[in-house]
Amino acid sequence: MKELVIIIRPEKLEEMKKILDEVHCGGMTLSSVMGCGTQKGTSFEAGVNEIKGLKTTINLLPKIRVEVVIPDKEVEHVIMKVRETCATNHVGDGKIFVRNIEEAVRIRTGERGIDAL
Ligand SMILES: Nc1ncnc2c1ncn2[C@@H]1O[C@H](COP(=O)(O)OP(=O)(O)OP(=O)(O)O)[C@@H](O)[C@H]1O
Ligand SMILES: [Mg+2]
Repeated sequence: MKELVIIIRPEKLEEMKKILDEVHCGGMTLSSVMGCGTQKGTSFEAGVNEIKGLKTTINLLPKIRVEVVIPDKEVEHVIMKVRETCATNHVGDGKIFVRNIEEAVRIRTGERGIDAL
């Protein structure tokens, strides 16, 4: 099992839910977060600040963080679908982090592993 932590633009949320529904993921956790990437939250405004000689500070922008645990064999498919859907060719499209998940337990039944997803 792998956990995908997917950080996307808020306006991509509905499409993201559709992708995860299509791969029959057992569930998902979504949160509203603030973050920045390599541009430190600045894009066009950074250029203006630099021209004026003003100090540029880190600016955090609203993003959606999706956590989903899925079987290993689904990982590449989900990555491909998220890229197809969430790439706008502009900075700030987001990122996908992949982590190993050792165990899952459905609390109600005691099912383990993929059966618990
Ligand atoms: N290394 C990181 N660690 C944790 N979160 C990150 C990291 N990089 C990006 N993020 C999260 O992803 C969001 C979007 O990042 P973003 O797409 O701007 O990354 P980037 O590396 O700057 O790529 P791009 O150049 O395409 O903008 C950030 O607002 C932040 O929440
Ligand atoms: Mg960026």
